Amino acid sequence: MLSRLSVIAVCLAASLSTVSCQTFRRLGTCPTLGCVLPPDQQDFLPGQQFDIRFEVHAPANGSEAFNGGVPDEKFTVTITKEGGKSKTIAEFFQLKEPAIEKWTFSWFEDLFAQDAKTPSVVNVASKIYRRVALYEPGKYTVTLKYYSGKTTTAEWTVRPLATQKKAKNIIFFIGDGMTTNMITAARLLAHKTINGKYQSLLQLDKFPVLGHQMSHSIDSFITDSANSASALYSGHKSTVNAMGVYADSSPDAFDDPKVETIVELVIRIWGSAWGAVSTAFLADATPIALTAHTRSRYQYGALIDQALHGVTNYSWTKIDGPDAYFGGGAEQFLPGSGSYLGKDYYAEFAKKGYTISLNKTSLQAAPNGSKALGVFCKSNLPVWLDRNIFPENLGKLSNDPSGAKAAAKDLPGLKEMTLKAIDVLHTRGGKKGFFLMSEAASIDKQMHTLDYDRALGDLLELDDTVRATVAKLKALGILDDTLIVVSADHGHGFDVFGSADTKYLAEQGDDRKKRSAVGVYEASGLSQYTIENPGISYNTGPNFPLNWDPRYVIAAGMGASPDHRESYGVNKTGPRVPAATIAGRGSSDYYASASDNPEGFVVNGTLPVDQAQGVHSLTDVPVYAMGPCQETFGGTYSNIDIFYKMATCLGLAQPTNKTISGNGK
Ligand SMILES: *[C@@H]1O[C@H](CO)[C@@H](O)[C@H](O)[C@H]1NC(C)=O
Ligand SMILES: *[C@@H]1O[C@H](CO)[C@@H](O)[C@H](O)[C@H]1NC(C)=O
Ligand SMILES: *[C@@H]1O[C@H](CO)[C@@H](O)[C@H](O)[C@H]1NC(C)=O
Ligand SMILES: *[C@@H]1O[C@H](CO)[C@@H](O)[C@H](O)[C@H]1NC(C)=O
Ligand SMILES: *[C@@H]1O[C@H](CO)[C@@H](O)[C@H](O)[C@H]1NC(C)=O
Ligand SMILES: *[C@@H]1O[C@H](CO)[C@@H](O)[C@H](O)[C@H]1NC(C)=O
Ligand SMILES: *[C@@H]1O[C@H](CO)[C@@H](O)[C@H](O)[C@H]1NC(C)=O
Ligand SMILES: [Zn+2]
Repeated sequence: MLSRLSVIAVCLAASLSTVSCQTFRRLGTCPTLGCVLPPDQQDFLPGQQFDIRFEVHAPANGSEAFNGGVPDEKFTVTITKEGGKSKTIAEFFQLKEPAIEKWTFSWFEDLFAQDAKTPSVVNVASKIYRRVALYEPGKYTVTLKYYSGKTTTAEWTVRPLATQKKAKNIIFFIGDGMTTNMITAARLLAHKTINGKYQSLLQLDKFPVLGHQMSHSIDSFITDSANSASALYSGHKSTVNAMGVYADSSPDAFDDPKVETIVELVIRIWGSAWGAVSTAFLADATPIALTAHTRSRYQYGALIDQALHGVTNYSWTKIDGPDAYFGGGAEQFLPGSGSYLGKDYYAEFAKKGYTISLNKTSLQAAPNGSKALGVFCKSNLPVWLDRNIFPENLGKLSNDPSGAKAAAKDLPGLKEMTLKAIDVLHTRGGKKGFFLMSEAASIDKQMHTLDYDRALGDLLELDDTVRATVAKLKALGILDDTLIVVSADHGHGFDVFGSADTKYLAEQGDDRKKRSAVGVYEASGLSQYTIENPGISYNTGPNFPLNWDPRYVIAAGMGASPDHRESYGVNKTGPRVPAATIAGRGSSDYYASASDNPEGFVVNGTLPVDQAQGVHSLTDVPVYAMGPCQETFGGTYSNIDIFYKMATCLGLAQPTNKTISGNGK
């Protein structure tokens, strides 16, 4: 979430100046004054549509000042297939030469410049070639020549063709922010051991193939959910906050060079049905990146419009809206400041034939044969723990999706939404199959706020949903035709290091003494979550803890956090808010919140004090696969490879411009 823009990155090349390009960059993918987007080292699916932008930068001041701030408008651009002849971009793609565009932007060269408020100003000349594709596998070199003698090149690889559909359907589960450490902790909470041997396992533990993906952004080693989702869905890495585009330097958040996503491909090539399910608001990065093309994930309203109508301002793959679209985020549907152009998006969807459900009962009664929109609350769905263990917390909210000042009642969970989406997609996709993405969003959201119980509850809900999905696909007779992939978009630095005696901790007066309540190594003991709590029945069935509030809890922590108070026990009254500002001090100056875990001890943070929450971390994340093409998911690879593996399994790597209209039903 909310990481500060363009902070943290790898220095691509410091050759231009003595200024280090570590944290602040003129444009992350462009270390020289000439930019090719897509930049060097990018991969493409044969036939995948994309735009190409060239930029020539003329810094007017700062350490790179050049050519009096006047950008070269006479630059030339060529493309060469390995072993072939060099052609201009216009010739190669048979396009008219586009007009020159010009703009100015500014950036800070380092923290000193930011403190002093002295941005460096850059003038830009640019051209964009829209909607092209490369069909022949192999290596290509794109060359930009500018300022009579300067050259920027980009080496591109077009991956092998794959025209045969090996899986009819794909269901891609994303545990947002989910790591192996979290899966291990969730297993400990929900599954009993006897003398070190688990008596039952997670559904994920039963998957036949496990891989590892590297989640870095194109220009920073820590990613966010926007551009990591975009990499998973398009095979192209991008910049933090961007989706379905390579971020350019222009002020317009929608004119950046686009890349086609798996949803757009599967519609264009096979006319399949598609859907998205999320416990987040539907305009949030992970669900919206399936169709979004923008450098700013915060354009929520416009992005819901893109999901329904496709990209309308440029010629692009036509999409006709999702077949099933279930989640939170009524703000982008109710007419008003949160929706695109203030319009009523319930009505916009209804105009296109959608059934609209605002609660679980209505969702389950919706016909399987119609396009279905389900929006169950404002903002994110309340988490599994509050819906199932502490339901009295739901009444405190004012999140009714109709806009009424009331609490949303009759909420579905990830499982109900996913199973209904499968009914709709299976019915509507028919022979043409379907693609479904289902996201457990609050693993990430609750890890951000250090609420480990709520995060792990949602992880167990994801596991339970995957279990129910396998059973459902079997009942529908399509398990063998369906590739199921379960992965994450990035991680958080979470792990468990022992247990904590909550009773002892609460009764000590001194912070240092409170820490004696933490039992490490042999003092960690065994999980108390799988032992029934006399007198309290949570009644959430197998595969969930029998007791969320044992005296001996897991002691867990984060690799990076704001200042906070720790007592390790579950918060029964609602999601945790670990850090807060203090009246009279700065409005982005966060301290340990006094009301959070008042009986706990203070843990000083390691993050800048303007961070109110934890942040994402570097770790690789797991990939579980089952079904057709499962064997291709073993090993360690980049997040973009997940796209190529799925696209190859669906036969989307085509040697011609294969276009079928609409969703083809
Ligand atoms: C560059 O020029 C702008 C005004 O055009 C000024 O605000 C800024 O401080 C200058 N930056 C540097 C690094 O000199
Ligand atoms: C593919 O065909 C469609 C429909 O004819 C067209 O609009 C689009 O521009 C073509 N794409 C490419 C990359 O040639
Ligand atoms: C599309 O173009 C219209 C008209 O120029 C503009 O009002 C609108 O903001 C644009 N929408 C997006 C998402 O770029
Ligand atoms: C669910 O939605 C339906 C249709 O809008 C409505 O008639 C019904 O009262 C709602 N049920 C609850 C429990 O809110
Ligand atoms: C949708 O399909 C399922 C079978 O998968 C069936 O049980 C359910 O009744 C159908 N729902 C409606 C509203 O027809
Ligand atoms: C639970 O979280 C809420 C919101 O931060 C806070 O007001 C409350 O004091 C917390 N309860 C405990 C026991 O920490
Ligand atoms: C936390 O940091 C403050 C200074 O910011 C210091 O006064 C305090 O002793 C630290 N507390 C702990 C528990 O380390
Ligand atoms: Zn995330």
